[in-house]
Amino acid sequence: MGFIYKTATKLMRTLPAETAHRATINALKTGLGPVALKKPDPILATNVGGLLLPNPVGLAPGFDKDAEVPDAMLVSGFGFVECGTVTPMPQIGNPKPRLFRLPEDRAVINRMGFNNGGLNAFKKRLEDRSGKQGIVGANLGANKDSTDRVGDYVTGLSALWGLADYFTINISSPNTPGLRDLQASDAMDDLLGRIQEARAKLTGDQPSPPIFLKVAPDLDHAQVERITEQARTYGMNAIIVSNTTIDRPESLKSSNKSEGGGLSGAPLFKKSTRMLKEFAAAADGRIDLIGVGGISSGGEAYAKIRAGAKAVQLYSAMIYQGPGLVMDIRNDLVQRLKADGFNSVEEAVGSSD
Ligand SMILES: Cc1cc2nc3c(=O)[nH]c(=O)nc-3n(C[C@H](O)[C@H](O)[C@H](O)COP(=O)(O)O)c2cc1C
Repeated sequence: MGFIYKTATKLMRTLPAETAHRATINALKTGLGPVALKKPDPILATNVGGLLLPNPVGLAPGFDKDAEVPDAMLVSGFGFVECGTVTPMPQIGNPKPRLFRLPEDRAVINRMGFNNGGLNAFKKRLEDRSGKQGIVGANLGANKDSTDRVGDYVTGLSALWGLADYFTINISSPNTPGLRDLQASDAMDDLLGRIQEARAKLTGDQPSPPIFLKVAPDLDHAQVERITEQARTYGMNAIIVSNTTIDRPESLKSSNKSEGGGLSGAPLFKKSTRMLKEFAAAADGRIDLIGVGGISSGGEAYAKIRAGAKAVQLYSAMIYQGPGLVMDIRNDLVQRLKADGFNSVEEAVGSSD
């Protein structure tokens, strides 16, 4: 079976990147996806921001922007699947081509620009799967031409309340002009304040689903400390570190290296892990962290956990290694945890020097 998926992944790479992505989603919709035959080893269970996960390896947002295939991805072995980014109104995104492979660098550059079918369609799909097992999160964003971007996040939260297992406030995509300005101090006070208010109203006396904040890797030390404090002040349950980078490391070799947009995959690993460590130092255990950026193996997932992440997410490596990757990472993580004498993921969190 593994051979079939490896061959299919190779074939997909002969197609333009976005065409291959669409073909993959369509195949998954018809049930042509890998099935994890093994239940996760209990050592992999983890709790991030109050969210109980059977295993710590999640699918990062951007792969399933419109919540078309969360169950297929859960069945393939992910411990949680984050759909989106979804914006209130449907949006076509930037002109194509806008997704580029950098094969020699095991990297991807994208400037998709939040192309998505909008909240109504997204909501309907989550309604259709309600009652099903598996953790599915909704990553919320703002429309490019919105006159009230903060209002867009509140609209997303209200529309999907009760349908998503958790929410992510995405203020770190580099492809919607001005979006990352929401990471500035005053803008974050306004945004997180309004989210906190909306959340209190929506929650009533019920327990609230966790809400996470997703940040860019292009932050300085003062910003890391300030964002950590603000996230805590406004009751965010975890920080997701990180989105793609606008940096272009000298080491890049592929012909597509100068395309505009966010860089992800292998060249993001070091930078995003360094940023994760900085957040871990600033948080000092007071807020949970999720590590994302350049994970393509169990060793890298483990490094994120040891740097301070209670769970991890990945996307780009799947483009090169196919959907079987998640099981390889899970199996490898179990071995590494046991070899180092840990009894749970939690015990290994932040254990690197
Ligand atoms: C094609 C593509 C689209 C993405 N779209 C989104 C998105 O809509 N929202 C978001 O928060 N992150 C998005 N991301 C960022 C990923 O979720 C992730 O943070 C980043 O790619 C780093 O992880 P990776 O190196 O494992 O891919 C996208 C990434 C790629 C490659």
